[in-house]
Amino acid sequence: MAISEAEIAQVRSATDIVALITEHVALKKVGRRWTGLCPFHGEKSPSFSVNAEEGRYYCFGCRVSGDQITFVREMLRMDFIDAVRLLADRAGIELHDDESAGPARKDKAEFLDAMDRAVEWYHDRLLKAPDARNAREYLKTRGINGELARQFKLGWAPDEWDALVGSLRLTPKVLEGTGLGFVNSRERKQDALRSRIIFPIFDTSGKAIAVGGRILPGAPTRADGRSEPKYKNSPETAIYSKRRTLYALNWAKDDIIKSGEIIVCEGYTDVIACFVAGLPRAVATCGTALGEDHFRVMKNFAKRIVLAYDADSAGQSAAASVYQWEKLHDVDVAVARLPQGSDPAELAQRDPQALRDAIANAVPFLQFRLERVLDTANLSSPEGRARAAEAALRVLAEHPSDLVRDQYLLTVADRLRIDVAALRPRVLEMARNPNAPQSRDVVERPTRSAEALPRPGLEALRLALFAPELVAGRLVEQFFVHPTQREIFVGIAKGLPLSQVIDQLERAGESEAARVLSELAVSELDRSYTHDDVSAVVSQLLRGAVAAAMKDIERDLRSGALSPDLAMATIRDVKQRLDLLQGPEAASSEVDLREWLVARGGDA
Ligand code: UTP
Ligand code: MN
Repeated sequence: MAISEAEIAQVRSATDIVALITEHVALKKVGRRWTGLCPFHGEKSPSFSVNAEEGRYYCFGCRVSGDQITFVREMLRMDFIDAVRLLADRAGIELHDDESAGPARKDKAEFLDAMDRAVEWYHDRLLKAPDARNAREYLKTRGINGELARQFKLGWAPDEWDALVGSLRLTPKVLEGTGLGFVNSRERKQDALRSRIIFPIFDTSGKAIAVGGRILPGAPTRADGRSEPKYKNSPETAIYSKRRTLYALNWAKDDIIKSGEIIVCEGYTDVIACFVAGLPRAVATCGTALGEDHFRVMKNFAKRIVLAYDADSAGQSAAASVYQWEKLHDVDVAVARLPQGSDPAELAQRDPQALRDAIANAVPFLQFRLERVLDTANLSSPEGRARAAEAALRVLAEHPSDLVRDQYLLTVADRLRIDVAALRPRVLEMARNPNAPQSRDVVERPTRSAEALPRPGLEALRLALFAPELVAGRLVEQFFVHPTQREIFVGIAKGLPLSQVIDQLERAGESEAARVLSELAVSELDRSYTHDDVSAVVSQLLRGAVAAAMKDIERDLRSGALSPDLAMATIRDVKQRLDLLQGPEAASSEVDLREWLVARGGDA
């Protein structure tokens, strides 16, 4: 371990757990304890309890517990070492890492420094270089002048192979660590982005961690005739996690905190347009769908989240997940009703007041979904109204709270001129359908829902269920360390109809697996997956399984069941292949590691 037990103890005792937790949760003193609403599950009356003397917390609702370090880990989704570091920094304690942790930290600092210099370099090119004239002109047509370009540090990647890596003398290691470039097949260093407008992406504290590059309209197509993608973004790196990053949060956070509201857009240009339109509390996801980790970040800044997507994308957001996250993170998700075919960037340029109004008049997510069904229905015939009722009830039934459902039910009955008494039992039935998500569980015991299981396994199972072609041949049961997820995977892999698999699990006494699979069966992919996204999921899952296998090896080594030589050789070999998982040899090292895990047979 990188940090000594003594220093960890020192960090714990230097951290006032009540002060730490009140940065996220309001706590009240009751007797000797402090209590508040649990930040790890949604609740209306406080069951979260903190013992200041012992430095421990415990929730009587969802039964999470831990100390200062686990709190930071869970709350900020950090690993152990980073959590200890953060607390040490706060307390002014200097840690003395051993050599294995030191370099990783130094590497990160080096990557951040390179990213910072690259952003400045791109920015300078956009502002000054003659070859950036088209880019400047184009930005102007989009309403982005020099002042805005400076505010958002926009840049220009020239139409050259190695202008950036050459000018900044970036090493291969830095290229890999930042995604700013790569070493090509001729062993030459090459820029990742070329002839693109650069949108730098910063972390909350304002450090540059990634870039997105947009082509200019009318850019030439590639040699193979296909057109270039509109955006190319930095890959996941040690300094950049897409699913946790929100573009522009660094600039928006003040207004978000002041207003209690956060506007979520789809594109970088939408965010800039919101700022221009007087809504400086807009952020965007970075080339991924809005997911649970974004909610974890957002709920620390505001309780009201307004989706400013174009009408179609907003309607397509995975509803069941949105309700779950609302509940879990105690936030409200509303949707701005933008005119059909408009996104914020377009609307802001055409009619900024209309954009401000749309944000101000955003409606709850469920209402938005219902309106879409009702607005497109043919209400002139009884058959049309009946069909609309079916569709509306399906939308309603997704919401986990019967109180909320019932309020909207009245509107639906009214609009469709159908007796509410006739609709009520149907929506209840749909909501209770044994194959539907167990809504009561979601509300009262969120930790038992499928979402609470390890994320990579869950994503892999969803892929196996809903996009099997994307993961064909890449998943094996040994990847699933969590027993429930493994049971489910083994079941799915049989290729039988899901209800049959669920029955079999039930009969085998695997009721947890059966329940989770029932929930998954009616869910959907919560985003679209590129090949790289799939690889990221597979490799994350694989890493988890390898980590578990390594623990076994270490145990066997300690118990003498395995010779030190053999154990060391294996560990070295596996570590080497893990490193290769990020590089050009990713595919073959994935295969090697998979075979290794399968050969171990391995009960997790
Ligand atoms: P949009 O196509 O809506 O782009 O994609 P945009 O940012 O609004 O840009 P303009 O207004 O057309 O110039 C929305 C977001 O999806 C991601 C980017 O993060 C983009 O901002 N995206 C889009 C990609 O990652 N790759 C793509 O090829 C396209
Ligand atoms: Mn757009």
